[in-house]
Amino acid sequence: MKIGLGSDHGGYELKEYIKEYLKKQNIEYIDYGTYSQESVDYPDYGEKLSKAVVSGEVDRGIAICGTGIGISIACNKVKGIRCALCGDTYSARMSVEHNNANILALGGRVIGKDLAIEIVSAWLSAKFQGGRHERRINKISSIESNL
Ligand code: RB5
Repeated sequence: MKIGLGSDHGGYELKEYIKEYLKKQNIEYIDYGTYSQESVDYPDYGEKLSKAVVSGEVDRGIAICGTGIGISIACNKVKGIRCALCGDTYSARMSVEHNNANILALGGRVIGKDLAIEIVSAWLSAKFQGGRHERRINKISSIESNL
């Protein structure tokens, strides 16, 4: 599995920390920026990451800004993205099992680094359950297609 990472300056530090974790786990990743603490606009990075997920360049993405809110809203504007902002491991697991979330959003200024790693780990090991959840995901896609 190849993971894409994207953040603004508010998520930069946590993004770098998550990269170290992914390296240790031998999980391949592409870093779509930002590459420093300099102030940038989170929609730019949410869009880059989301397009990489939708095109298949990466399998899933992790999006980080200060709260995780702005970047998750931006990611969810890209057709085909189901971005879940999570602050606990249960939601992270369920976001994949039930919602087939293809991007996990985190708040770099909200959660501690160790919790973030536990959330990432729960999210990465979760599998979409399909069945009735597939029907609901399809309904989300048709909302998108009918816009
Ligand atoms: C940037 O200061 C901050 O607004 C951003 O990282 C994020 O929290 C927005 O939702």
